[in-house]
Amino acid sequence: MPDLSTLPPDFLWGVATSAYQIEGAVRADGRKPSIWDTFCTRPGAIDNGDTGEVACDHYHRWPQDVALLRDLGVGAYRFSVAWPRVRPDGVGRVNPAGLDFYDRLVDAMLTAGIRPFVTLYHWDLPQALQDRGGWPRRETAEAFADYAALVAARLGDRVTDWCTVNEPLCVAWIGHLEGRMAPGERDLGRAVRAGHHVLLGHGLATAAIRAHAARPASIGPVLNLSPIDPASDRPADLAAARRMDGHVNRWWLDPLHGRGYPADMVDTYGIEPPVRDDDLAVIATPTDFLGVNYYFRQVVTDDPAGPAPYARQLPVPDAPHTAMDWEVHPDGLERLLVEVSEAYQPAKLLVTESGSAWPDVVAADGVIADAERTDHLERHLAACAAAVRRGAPLAGYFAWSLLDNFEWAYGYDKRFGLVHVDYQTQRRTMKASGARYADLIRTHQQPTATATPVAVRG
Ligand code: IFM
Repeated sequence: MPDLSTLPPDFLWGVATSAYQIEGAVRADGRKPSIWDTFCTRPGAIDNGDTGEVACDHYHRWPQDVALLRDLGVGAYRFSVAWPRVRPDGVGRVNPAGLDFYDRLVDAMLTAGIRPFVTLYHWDLPQALQDRGGWPRRETAEAFADYAALVAARLGDRVTDWCTVNEPLCVAWIGHLEGRMAPGERDLGRAVRAGHHVLLGHGLATAAIRAHAARPASIGPVLNLSPIDPASDRPADLAAARRMDGHVNRWWLDPLHGRGYPADMVDTYGIEPPVRDDDLAVIATPTDFLGVNYYFRQVVTDDPAGPAPYARQLPVPDAPHTAMDWEVHPDGLERLLVEVSEAYQPAKLLVTESGSAWPDVVAADGVIADAERTDHLERHLAACAAAVRRGAPLAGYFAWSLLDNFEWAYGYDKRFGLVHVDYQTQRRTMKASGARYADLIRTHQQPTATATPVAVRG
């Protein structure tokens, strides 16, 4: 049992998902395509030619999934609203059926005593907006704020917790520079523009939520951050580590905390972000928490011939790695939480995602004894407790993910769920890691209670 005694008594225990990864039903009830529907049709873009067309069919099976949240005993559930479901063309006409879906979901969660954390953008940009230029175009940030206002007006009488944008790094760098995610572009200039407009969209949406939600809102962005280590103490590697830190961490943290874009990275890219008027003030609008997604640290070397930031991640020999080939390094989470707290003094931190993919085996009796995921979970929670001990204002942890789901360009092979999904039958089965999480939550909430086994739902 990890020592979690330093986690505050009101620590928020949660799980997270995102719309495109679980909902399926991509043509149901007026939803129109997102950039991920389009990207999935690109030959070779997704392993096995998988798509999000059906995913976990959560759009139809959500009552069962809310029951799973209850089985886990989580106090919070972070999910995302699909922009193309509620405003299919990105701007203009509202789709009432789309809003009704999230309305029902929120009501069911509240009935179950689970606090909804709504993410407004988890990568499913309406294709219609991409056709008009996508995130590199400023109007997309404005459209995002309008959509945020719409959702806040509808759900903000019950929802109090809002994540604006998920992982701007992936939108900008992986989607527009490396081309491994939708919309699959490879253009540094467009990537820098996209990143700026995602941050601007975050700031505009923060104001829009505050203006339109009926209840006081707690709002924050979600960043995926990595501690960076140089591969050697060669000056070139030290400089590469500094550039990678700029690319992955500071490019997002600095403007969000009122410091503007880091000058060394503007030099590295040789491109100025398209900052206008009071954009930097909008981006630095005070928020209520910073969401941190943590998966791995990076050990990097100088790579002058490579793409920006001219630094390359190296494999770490002899270290355990997940099915994603990501190093298991819980100390990195402790370090990140402490260093971000010290450097930026956020009012509150939430680990909005942490988890791991493993090649799960379903035994003949249906049991999924995912010891690696359980160990990963325990060690990352222990890292959270250690960070709290060192002063990080950490208020909650959301395990990624409730369900096995569509892992973007990796399709369905990579399983992150605490709950196994059989994609042939859509049967859900709690894994041992899910049962363990439930146990830890229960124990933390009632330290003297005797742990009882969690129900296994098929
Ligand atoms: O599945 C993703 C999620 O959508 C965003 N954060 C990282 C997860 C694992 O790759």
